[in-house]
Amino acid sequence: MNPQALADLSSRLPELRLLTEPGDLEHYGRDWTRRWTPAPLAIALPASIEEVQEIVRWANHHRVAIVPSGGRTGLSGGAVAANGELVLSLARMNRVLGFDAVDRTLTVQPGIALEAVHTAAREHGLIYPVDFAARGSCSIGGNIATNAGGIRVIRYGNTREWIAGLKVVTGLGELLHLNRGLIKNSSGYDLRQLMVGSEGTLGIVVEATLRLTDPPPASHVMLLALPDMQALMQVFALFRERLSLQAFEFFTDVALKHVLAHGAQRAIEGDYPYYVVTEFDAADERAQEVALAVFEQGLEQGLIADGVMAQSDAQAAALWRLREGITESLAPHKPYKNDISVRIGAVPVFLQDIQALLAHEYPHMEVVWFGHIGDGNLHINVLKPASLSDADFIAQCEHVTQRLAETLHRHGGSISAEHGIGLVKRAYLESTRSAAEIALMRGVKTVFDPNGILNPGKLFA
Ligand code: MLT
Ligand code: ZN
Repeated sequence: MNPQALADLSSRLPELRLLTEPGDLEHYGRDWTRRWTPAPLAIALPASIEEVQEIVRWANHHRVAIVPSGGRTGLSGGAVAANGELVLSLARMNRVLGFDAVDRTLTVQPGIALEAVHTAAREHGLIYPVDFAARGSCSIGGNIATNAGGIRVIRYGNTREWIAGLKVVTGLGELLHLNRGLIKNSSGYDLRQLMVGSEGTLGIVVEATLRLTDPPPASHVMLLALPDMQALMQVFALFRERLSLQAFEFFTDVALKHVLAHGAQRAIEGDYPYYVVTEFDAADERAQEVALAVFEQGLEQGLIADGVMAQSDAQAAALWRLREGITESLAPHKPYKNDISVRIGAVPVFLQDIQALLAHEYPHMEVVWFGHIGDGNLHINVLKPASLSDADFIAQCEHVTQRLAETLHRHGGSISAEHGIGLVKRAYLESTRSAAEIALMRGVKTVFDPNGILNPGKLFA
């Protein structure tokens, strides 16, 4: 790269905050994956859309790659800068820009944390319903870039459903104002939805108009203990038939062990192999009676072994912590993460297949199963044994992931349900997308970013 390039950036944008200290490069050059050594050229922290556009024009001129960066809580390496890229952090563009009571939309800058969006929506008596454990640190721009899912997808769907409009800067620095909050818009290709889930490879989200909705009624939270994995989807069917579910999440005894060691409180005495945290509407007292009747039925049928219903908000939060604390409790064990999905109807057979596969392939490793089973999304984390080097561990896991990808392909599933492809899963994209689809995706990339400036190497090699 031309050594004058950074000086040129500063002279084009004298007010731009630019960081080049080693500590900053290290901090902004990585996400929650720990596989790559950060090595960005510099970190730019623009404060306006115009600055973002000028950075992109500068990058085209000097042929510098840009890694768009939000809260860097991603789990697929989508925000990693390990090859001299400019990290374009949206951290300073983190304000609420407006609320529209008639349209029930909130317009925000991309660097705002998901939790701050929740708070802003509640101030207007509404909710932004996408939610997951990283809410305090992840940014809405990153949520859009990965089409983030989370714990309430069975009720509300993914991020995609809640995007009413987007302002996006393309790979050539043009500003697009997509969909503009319209509910109905049959005027051709929906470029807004193309941006959602594009992992920063087509454009940089610089403003988002989010749809809000009414808060759900009061709810109950239950923890269930299950005797075996096959009971999972039967219990799901039982509960879904009689109750209005907001969440249905599962984890294993191994996940529980880690989360308890990390400070969470045990809620059920006795040890069981599988657990479910479920939350459902409690519009009236009948919901509790129905839930208890369903629970009894599950007990009688041998599908449920034990359970507890939270009697206060504090107890509900403690039950949720058992599920939401898992990622943090596993982090010290350098987990290799899988984030896969199949149709809900395919889950039981798929579970049988991969249980057998993983027991065979990982006989000496701790495998932690958890996830959003109510929407067919499993997080299978493999923990690194102390005896293996990082490189050997990854090599073994990659070998198994290839087998897992083949199984997913047979079941019509996806190698990434909600974390994105990034660097971590790009070798397996073919298991989920046909050659024709990938060729079209590459073509789309070229249209929006002809010089390959935006997040190169992510999604595709
Ligand atoms: C979660 O649902 O907790 C995260 O998406 C999963 C993970 O850490 O693998
Ligand atoms: Zn998840």
